[in-house]
Parts: sequence; structure tokens; C-alpha cells
Amino acid sequence: QSSTSTDENKTTKSMNLLDNASNLLTNFLSGGKIGSMPTAEGAVSDLFGKPLFFSLYDWFIEHGSVYKLAFGPKAFVVVSDPIVARHILRENAFAYDKGVLADILEPIMGKGLIPADLDTWKQRRRVIAPGFHSLYLEAMAKVFTDCSVRMIAKFEKLLEVEASRGEKKIDLDLEAEFSSLALDIIGLGVFNYDFGSVTKESPVIKAVYGTLFEAEHRSTFYLPYWKIPLAKWLVPRQRKFQNDLKVINDCLDALIKNAKETREEADVEKLQQRDYLNIKDASLLRFLVDMRGVDADDRQLRDDLMTMLIAGHETTAAVLTWAIFLLAQHPAKMKKAQAEIDLVLGKERTTFEAIKKLEYLRLIVVEALRLYPQPPLLIRRSLMSDTLPGGYNGNKDGYAIPPGTDLFVSVYNLHRSPHFWDNPNDFEPERFLMQKLSQLEGWAGFDPSRSPGALYPNEIISDFAFLPFGGGPRKCVGDQFALMESTIALAMLLQKFDVSLKGSPESVELVTGATIHTKNGLWCQLKKRSSLN
Ligand code: HEM
Repeated sequence: QSSTSTDENKTTKSMNLLDNASNLLTNFLSGGKIGSMPTAEGAVSDLFGKPLFFSLYDWFIEHGSVYKLAFGPKAFVVVSDPIVARHILRENAFAYDKGVLADILEPIMGKGLIPADLDTWKQRRRVIAPGFHSLYLEAMAKVFTDCSVRMIAKFEKLLEVEASRGEKKIDLDLEAEFSSLALDIIGLGVFNYDFGSVTKESPVIKAVYGTLFEAEHRSTFYLPYWKIPLAKWLVPRQRKFQNDLKVINDCLDALIKNAKETREEADVEKLQQRDYLNIKDASLLRFLVDMRGVDADDRQLRDDLMTMLIAGHETTAAVLTWAIFLLAQHPAKMKKAQAEIDLVLGKERTTFEAIKKLEYLRLIVVEALRLYPQPPLLIRRSLMSDTLPGGYNGNKDGYAIPPGTDLFVSVYNLHRSPHFWDNPNDFEPERFLMQKLSQLEGWAGFDPSRSPGALYPNEIISDFAFLPFGGGPRKCVGDQFALMESTIALAMLLQKFDVSLKGSPESVELVTGATIHTKNGLWCQLKKRSSLN
């Protein structure tokens, strides 16, 4: 990077800091303006012990779907209302940025889509989103299957070893296994790099986990000590973090260099029609580098790849983890899923076409995302004054929001709201087939015809009551990738194995950083399915 652009960056950063400081001051001075909504008083102890989103749920039931959460002088607005969520995420999306989330992720993702400033985001979103076209997804279905086959072959080997000792089952931490699977898939899908983490360890794999661990630490640690000058060299865990970042960046830089050296420039339409099932490199990196008229510098490409590596890895692993956690507690539903798999696949591999027929499996995936959304909260900060609508049970005049206000859209609350779901805490994949239409003013209810051709229920069908991938312009770019990946991995696993929990469901403790995961792993017992013996 040239010294001029470094200086420009510094200037922009100081201006952002000044803006933030002045927003916070305005917010502080106009504190009365967000005062007209119900207020929950948080104690510092609420931040420790149990995940914050649990407390936000209790306050939602007590105070309603828009409330202010005050921690001493600091206040957050907590939204658990589809009408208000739709306003923030779609109708007035550009009045908000990612606030504290961008502060945490910027050192890792630079100017990648999640933390990027608005101008960079606009340019890069336009280029990246077309990369997830249908032929790419079809090629990815093969990658998802190949990687799942590799994971299953590993489990079968372990079973053989146990069988030689007279045991018919194996104990495994499936959360860790899904994490390796998702890492292998994201590496191949995004930059055609095989981490091979299902079967081995490597310095790059360790560095990816180190970086995720640090991102999680920063999102749950309330004093940003890493911003103190020299902390990154003096504090051992920060030094390790810098080393981990370097290992990943070197790996990504080498892949980018190679992709640029073999560049074959083409228009977007031509790129989307390549023979994806037969080309050697179907990755998103190839698409981004080959696109005519877009010359992203290496730094930007690296930020894009790093963002997708982090955004697409633990999230998908978490969906699989919670789907198995839920199925293991509902053996009849696991059997129903296996019957569907037997009918659609028999003993064959999963394919892109088969996903369309695996309806119950698809509903299991979305039901797991309803009960355990990843992340459970969407974070925003207002860039200008706004008026939030009152929502379905709030103030008719709405709520004034001064610039600099921090907001949480609680997807967890929306997904478990007793106002929109029958038996909201129960695992009922079938519910999506019989959702009710709206009886609320301003909320259009559930209606699949609003999103024709969608394989999975989404925020459009539910008019923002179901938001597994967010909504509006900042919606997840990898939603279909992740849904298909989860469906295929689950189908391949349940085709071969019966899965049960090793301990009680209550012994599986939840923790959160960016995603909801377990404290000590999801320990399961796997047996070869009896019908396959
Ligand atoms: C954004 C969820 C998988 C890339 C988001 C957002 C959510 C989300 C909720 C919106 C965040 C916000 O509005 O603040 C998930 C879940 C996944 C998943 C639950 C897995 C089940 C993936 C995958 C990729 C990906 C596989 C890439 C291959 C991104 C990116 C953004 C994003 C780049 C930022 C989009 C933007 O700001 O324009 N994701 N995601 N995600 N996701 Fe995903």
C-alpha cells in the first residue's frame, strides 16, 4: 500500500472516530429522545454467566417488542418486532451501519463486506453477489457431497477400529467434526484451497481457529484493550493473533497471486455460463479475478476472501450442530428424515437435483436456524436521526432515534416470539408448511407465494418474522450456499448413521460469540444404521 493511501486511511479513520465521538455526544445530550420507549435496567452481572440473548428474551416478554436497555449511562435499543426489523434492515437500511461489530471485525476483515464503509461495500457487493449464480451452486453441491463423503469415510474407519474390539458404536464431538467439514468446504468453494481439516491438522488450520477464537474473545470482552498502542506486540494473545493473521494472509496472498497469473478475463454473463461441473477451479476467487472491467487490488481481494472464510465457516457448522442436537432428542423425526433420504437417495450420493426432493431435510435445517439463529443478534448503529415505526404492540407515533444509537435486532426473540409462532420453543420442522396468515396491522404474515421458487422459507415469505440470513441490502450473500451445504451434509450423515446424544440435553451448555455454540462440544454416539448392516 502506498504511503499516500495509508495517510488517507489514517485521515478517514480519525474522521470516523470524530464522527462517532460527536454522534455519541449528540446521543448523550439528546438522551431524552430515545426515552419514550419502555426501559429495561441491565445490571453488569447480566453480561456474565449466561449468554446476553437469553436476558434480552426475558426483557422482551416483560417490556414488549421495542425497548431500551440501559447499562448505566449507555443505552441500546432492542428490537424483536418484524415491522421494525424490516424498517431498519430494508426500508431505511442506509441510515445504519454495523457499529460496534465493524469495530471488532475490521482488524480481521479489513474492507470485506461485513465491516466495509458504504462506498467500498457498494462496489464489492455488486461484484461478489453475482458469483453465487446457479451453475456455481450446482458445482458446489458436488463439493459439499465430496467433503461429506470424506467425513463419513473417517467415521466408518473409526467404527471398524471399534468393531475389532467388539464395540458397535463410536463417540464423537460432532461440533468439532462439523467445524472441520465446513472449513474444508468454504476453502474449496471460495478459493479452491483444500484445508483437508477433516483428516489432518496444519499451521493454516490452526491459524484459522486462532483467528476465530480471537474474534469471539473481542465480541464478548467489554474493554477493547487491543486498541491500546503496542498491545498487539506486548500482550501474548494479541501477538499470537497477529501471527495467525499473517499465516492466513500469506496463504491467501499466494492463492490470489496464482489466480491473477492465470487470469482469463470475461464478461459476467460469460463467466456465469462456464462449464462449472467440469472446470478445475470453480471457486469464487476465480470468478472475482476473471471478471472483466473489475480490477480489485490484492488487498481488497484478500479482505473479501477472509470475510467469507470467517462468515461462512462457524455459522454453517453451528446449523449442523443444532440440527443434530434437536434430532437426537426427537428420534421419530430422525427416522422420518431417514425414510425421506432412503426414498430419495437410496444408497446413492446427494446431488443438486436431490435437494429439491429432500423437503423434510430442508425444513429441519430452517427449523434449526429458527431455534438457534447464527448470529442471534444483528448489530446496527444509526448514522442519522430516524423514526422507528411503533411495531405491532408499540407506540403509534413510533420512536425517535438520534444519530449514534446502538441497536440490536434480536433474531433469537423474533424466531421464538409467542406472537408469531405456535409452541415457539418446540422443534417442529413441519410448522413451516402450515404457518398462519397475518392478523396484525402492518405485518403481512406468512405467504410462500411472495417468494416463488424459493426452496427454503425466508424473510420475504415471513415478512421479516423469520430472518436467518438477515434481510435488505446487507442480507447474507452465502445463504443458498449454506442451506444446500447443511442439507447435503445432514442427508449424507443420516443416510449412514443413527445418532444419539452421549449425555443429557441439559448437559450441553450454550455459549455465544458470533454464533451460538456449545461449551464443551456436542458429544454423540454414532451407530451404523441397522437397515444398512
Ligand atoms: C451476512 C448469516 C453463511 C457470507 C450475513 C448476515 C447473516 C448471516 C444473519 C447478515 C448480518 C447483518 O445484517 O448484520 C449466515 C448464516 C450462515 C451464513 C446463518 C450459515 C448457515 C455464509 C456463507 C458465506 C457468507 C457460507 C460465504 C460463502 C456472508 C457475507 C455477509 C453475510 C459476505 C455480509 C453481507 C453484506 O454485508 O453485504 N450472514 N451466513 N455467509 N454473510 Fe452469511
